[in-house]
Amino acid sequence: MQSENCGTSEFPSNVRTVRAPHALPLLGHVVPLQRRPLDFLLEIGHHSDVVEVRIGLQRAYLVCRPDLVREVLVDSRRFDKGGWIFDNLRLLVGNGLVTATRDEHHRQRRHIQPAFHHSRIDQYVGVMTLEAVTATARWHAGVPLDMAEAMHTVTTRITMRTLFAADLDGAVATALQEALPIYLRGVYRRAMFPIRFPSTAPVPGNLRFARACRTLHGVIDSVIAAHRTPSEPVSLLDALTVSRDPDTGQTLTEGEIHEQVMAMLLAATETVASALTWTLYLLSTHPDEEKRLQAEADRILGDRPPTLSDLPHLAVARRVLNEALRIRPPAWLFTRVVTCPTNLAGIELKPKTTLLISPYLLHHRPDLFPQPERFVPDRWLSTSPLYRARAAQRGALLPFGAGNRKCIGDSYAITWALLVLVSIAARWRLRTVCDTPIRPVPKATLGTGRLLMIPEPRTPAA
Ligand code: HEM
Repeated sequence: MQSENCGTSEFPSNVRTVRAPHALPLLGHVVPLQRRPLDFLLEIGHHSDVVEVRIGLQRAYLVCRPDLVREVLVDSRRFDKGGWIFDNLRLLVGNGLVTATRDEHHRQRRHIQPAFHHSRIDQYVGVMTLEAVTATARWHAGVPLDMAEAMHTVTTRITMRTLFAADLDGAVATALQEALPIYLRGVYRRAMFPIRFPSTAPVPGNLRFARACRTLHGVIDSVIAAHRTPSEPVSLLDALTVSRDPDTGQTLTEGEIHEQVMAMLLAATETVASALTWTLYLLSTHPDEEKRLQAEADRILGDRPPTLSDLPHLAVARRVLNEALRIRPPAWLFTRVVTCPTNLAGIELKPKTTLLISPYLLHHRPDLFPQPERFVPDRWLSTSPLYRARAAQRGALLPFGAGNRKCIGDSYAITWALLVLVSIAARWRLRTVCDTPIRPVPKATLGTGRLLMIPEPRTPAA
């Protein structure tokens, strides 16, 4: 009925809507979505604006056109956080900022936003650089190492030291470092499946996951208790502890802080680790780009580690990172749920319908990013033949999402990734062990899987 409709699309109904082929009885498209999701998304989404897919018996829509994607991400009244990914995550990690629905989100975000003010992020530059330099100093020339693992370790340490405390007790830090990867991978494995399988059977994987959950919750509680009254907020956790609602003056309860810490751990570690691993891999397979980055690192840093004041001058590093985030966006798929009868560019949508958004799909549309499979950091220069009108490309480049649910940690992540990247570029050349191109592994984030690389030391050019 017209009166129940909560708003209509601002776009005319000229969208190309198709139904994804080969739905299986009862399962619909669950099998290709789980087995080969990236190929499936590109196959069905390349030439359409909206594609109807079947998740079991339910209908969902993959939104493929950047203007429609923006409409969905910006209008949280009609399209809220929800759909299977966030519904599963909420059951597993609670109702922190990542999973909160609209009614709760606004209050939470106002509380947490000050913790991500750029002046705070600037304070962490020293810790981030120190961790990057310390981790890479342990590499041995010519000895292969799993770069995915190495980047995971360094990002976990940076998360712990900036989120919790720079002086985290050694035993606590070790417990966290061991539990976190098991926990994160377990959470995402359980969340990304459209159909939830029972995961309480006492098999080794479930027992390991349960143990990691207990460790993590215990550690978070003890760190929160120890930081209840910070004299001067030095970590993100301290900032959460002292933050007050601008209207009511209320602080967050310990339970709320716990949920927010879980949300940050979930959102921060794997995403940055995947972004860095892919960037290093792509550089190793594009030696000219690698040399240009090294030349920039040499020119700006010489033989000292990077500092805050270097960040604005790292133009090549920024383009490299931007392009890596385009070609291999860590958050490759997320969902929204329709809150009320509405329509999206002419398609009538019922409440509870799931919408799928895939930055991976948008970033690989040849009409938006010419030769999308090529890693070309200079496509971001206006002089490049691959450069398209900034508005069109910006609208389609969504590694951090958009609207009021856009990643709260975007600047934090970029600062962190740039510092690690130039610290490595200044000191090391990385070679892959295997010549076969690495295919993206779509799990929690778009990872590389195990990635053996050989570090070769280099000295900065004079
Ligand atoms: C390269 C690294 C990162 C990528 C690609 C990334 C990507 C994203 C994306 C796409 C979203 C929006 C999801 C949606 O709309 O459903 C998001 C949300 C979020 N991210 Fe990130 N993220 C990164 C790093 C971080 C870091 C370092 C933190 C925290 C320290 C963080 C914290 C969050 C939080 C709390 C949200 C939820 C925001 C809200 O709903 O208000 N992320 N991220």
